[in-house]
Amino acid sequence: MNHKIRKQYEAMRRHFQQAAEQRGFTVAPAQELAAERLCRLAGELVGSSGLFGRSPQPPRSLYVWGPVGRGKSWLVDTFFDGLPTTRKRRLHFHDFFRALHDGVAREGRSREGEPHEGSSHGRRSAVDRAVDELLGDCRILVFDEFHAHDAGDAMLVARLFRTLLDRRVTLVTTSNYPPAGLMPNPLYHHLFEPTIHLIEERMDVLDVSGPTDFRRLPQQVHGSRRFAEGACLTDETDTLPGEPSLLAPRPDEAVLVPVHHHELPAKAVRADLVWFGFDDLCEGTTSVPDYLALAERFATLVLSDVPPLASCTADGRQRFANLVDVCCDRDVRLFLIGADPLAGVSDGSGLMRDLDRTASRLAMLRRAGVAR
Ligand SMILES: Nc1ncnc2c1ncn2[C@@H]1O[C@H](COP(=O)(O)OP(=O)(O)OP(=O)(O)O)[C@@H](O)[C@H]1O
Ligand SMILES: [Mg+2]
Repeated sequence: MNHKIRKQYEAMRRHFQQAAEQRGFTVAPAQELAAERLCRLAGELVGSSGLFGRSPQPPRSLYVWGPVGRGKSWLVDTFFDGLPTTRKRRLHFHDFFRALHDGVAREGRSREGEPHEGSSHGRRSAVDRAVDELLGDCRILVFDEFHAHDAGDAMLVARLFRTLLDRRVTLVTTSNYPPAGLMPNPLYHHLFEPTIHLIEERMDVLDVSGPTDFRRLPQQVHGSRRFAEGACLTDETDTLPGEPSLLAPRPDEAVLVPVHHHELPAKAVRADLVWFGFDDLCEGTTSVPDYLALAERFATLVLSDVPPLASCTADGRQRFANLVDVCCDRDVRLFLIGADPLAGVSDGSGLMRDLDRTASRLAMLRRAGVAR
């Protein structure tokens, strides 16, 4: 290891240790291999062939996978924070799709009136350009919570991978699925096989399958995470210390809130808190870009009239899961008021895809009257 590489490797090791200490935990044995590999990658990136060089051979990409709550996102986020460069980009799965859809739609609008190309060529190149715009001049992309569930995902993700390889960008991704388990839907799995082969060939696969879902540990390990200050409450009269703003909204507080290209009826907006009824946010025509827009503007989101998800539409359940994902990733304090959303939804019920993801995130929230 040359001096520069070793120095960066050691700086990243210290950074990991300090980041864990700051949160009051230690890197778990099951995380250690991935942490060590990420530190080596940090060294490789600043080496002569990495971030600042123009070598045809970028450092190998990493695919970190394991069950929910094992500390994968923490590992890659810590790595990302500790990288001494601006030529880096961190994307959550949802950001990626929003940016691509926006880019493709923008391009479609600017081409309105032009002769219709009538083939997939025009659309594919729009996706390419959107990926280009998204990546900018970055040399390392951290893509958190990678998964693919339908044919649209498969196409976009395949393009992303090809562009990354063409541009010699190193990718670090986390997933709940081993590469061969991606795109579990048997209808679409074959569409994704070329990408799976590419991942297996070009990425080092690291398994972070420790015994503990850290989100289910007591509150203190969540440190300063705002999301974990949220709660599941049974009605608006439940009080939580330091949360006076959870009094039921008056009718005259109702207001339209701008989201992604439209507006949604909120029950109230109070400074950086927004309050919605479940049906308006999860049973209407809303989507992830709307939740991202809310997360960008508000630090606290209250969702009232939450029903047991078993009684919702399948789309309502999926929207709720996406909302929880976005709030957790963007660290938005989430208050759910109503029924226990997961009552009656079990693993075997087939009611919710990736149920364990949602359950793990909701486990971080306090319960009415219970100080976790
Ligand atoms: N070694 C550890 N000990 C205790 N808590 C930890 C440890 N590593 C990470 N955590 C904390 O555990 C929580 C879950 O971690 P994280 O979000 O990284 O999990 P994940 O593996 O990405 O889960 P998912 O697959 O559901 O996205 C976070 O609050 C994180 O700070
Ligand atoms: Mg994660």
